[in-house]
Amino acid sequence: MEEAKLIIDGKEWIFPVIEGSEGEKAIDIRTLRQQTGYITFDPGFGSTGSCRSAITYMDGEKGILRYRGIPIEQLAEKSTFVETAFLLITGELPTRDELTRTSVHLNDFSLLHENMKAFYQNYPSKAHPMGILSAMVNAMRSFYPELIDLEEEMNKTYLRLISKIRTMAAMAYRISLGERVVYPKPGLCYCSNFLNMMFDSIVVPYQIDPDLVKALNVFWILHADHEQNCSTTAVRVVGSGKVNIYATLSAGISALWGPLHGGANQAVVKMLQRIHKDGMTIDDCIKRAKDKDDDFRLMGFGHRVYKTYDPRARIMKKMADIVLSKIQKDDPLLDIARKLEEVALKDPYFVEKNLYPNVDFYSGIVLRAMGIPTNMFTVMFAIGRLPGWIAQWKEDVSDPEMKISRPRQIYTGYQVRDYVPMSERRQG
Ligand code: ACO
Repeated sequence: MEEAKLIIDGKEWIFPVIEGSEGEKAIDIRTLRQQTGYITFDPGFGSTGSCRSAITYMDGEKGILRYRGIPIEQLAEKSTFVETAFLLITGELPTRDELTRTSVHLNDFSLLHENMKAFYQNYPSKAHPMGILSAMVNAMRSFYPELIDLEEEMNKTYLRLISKIRTMAAMAYRISLGERVVYPKPGLCYCSNFLNMMFDSIVVPYQIDPDLVKALNVFWILHADHEQNCSTTAVRVVGSGKVNIYATLSAGISALWGPLHGGANQAVVKMLQRIHKDGMTIDDCIKRAKDKDDDFRLMGFGHRVYKTYDPRARIMKKMADIVLSKIQKDDPLLDIARKLEEVALKDPYFVEKNLYPNVDFYSGIVLRAMGIPTNMFTVMFAIGRLPGWIAQWKEDVSDPEMKISRPRQIYTGYQVRDYVPMSERRQG
């Protein structure tokens, strides 16, 4: 068995090497502190493996992403979001019966407790829907039965969450517009139902377009999991304290909100709008993005793990073309995005730092074309990511190796000093 040798001040320690099913290797340093008194220092956890996981495999150098072994390209082409959610959570593609049962449950669980509607009405009209969504998912714990430790009940809880998050999101949107809430319609598939709840009106009934339904399925499939990213790590860390699943997922939603993570799709569109409105040239943008003294970043570019083209961005780019041609709309933002991408991909700064477009670079354009308002983009991401968070939580809580998350630190503050009474303190 391969081992790693650590030498400190001439003293040697041996640590085992563990290997994943795709050949990824890790030095198992669980006993490092106990044996040597040292800890590792890895802010942002770029070189730290926090768990063993059989859910998602990604190779950032080669641009590979697979859920339960199946390439993302195949899932985007052939699967649906509901089927992919089943795959992530259970580990296998569903049989026909399993898929039917899943769809029946998703339909059965789609309504919200009427009292939950009152929450929305009390939020200020400008409240960000991610804040509302995170609070609502946490509140679900008070409205829906406690988790019972039976697999069947747990599976229902997952489906309840997947179904209701979509209703909650659409409801938040309708209420923010001061419009009547559209209830889920039994018989419509998951994605059609969401679009109908968002856009149906008494005056102009919403026409479900299979191409938009496909685009939404693809959007949610591409966002369904991405191994140990910021929000998934939040889910695992919060879940490690054995808090209930609703509170855990609510933490994941909060982590996703940030512009460096799930909020990037909204930030990309805002950036493109700003470029368009201010008449900035592409060269200006690239110059500013490279300037260390300027806080302008090319949103939608760069990724902690992908050091090549994000495979999801490739699929999303194709989707943007399909959706825009379908609705026969030229989007000046798409033109800016294409030009930015072309110039950045040749620019030595971006080439040397391996900064390629990530999925968010094109997903905002697809969502805009579907009529989704910008402040709902991150909510759309959260709906998609829910099955991934559930799968990761489930894996974490059932893994006998896992412990409560509790990293160490290198303390850099004062050494011990005495309390100074107010009368002796320097006043100013
Ligand atoms: N524009 C300009 N420069 C960039 C960008 C960018 N988008 N991204 C990284 N860089 C530069 C950094 O300034 C840094 O330069 P330096 O080495 O001279 O200091 C170098 O590239 C490395 O960047 P880090 O921020 O250290 O890389 P990290 O892995 O920590 O960050 C991140 C990755 C947060 C995604 C970053 O690339 C970024 O901010 N991108 C824009 C936001 C975005 O698109 N986020 C979505 C990520 S995908 C997702 O969550 C779905």
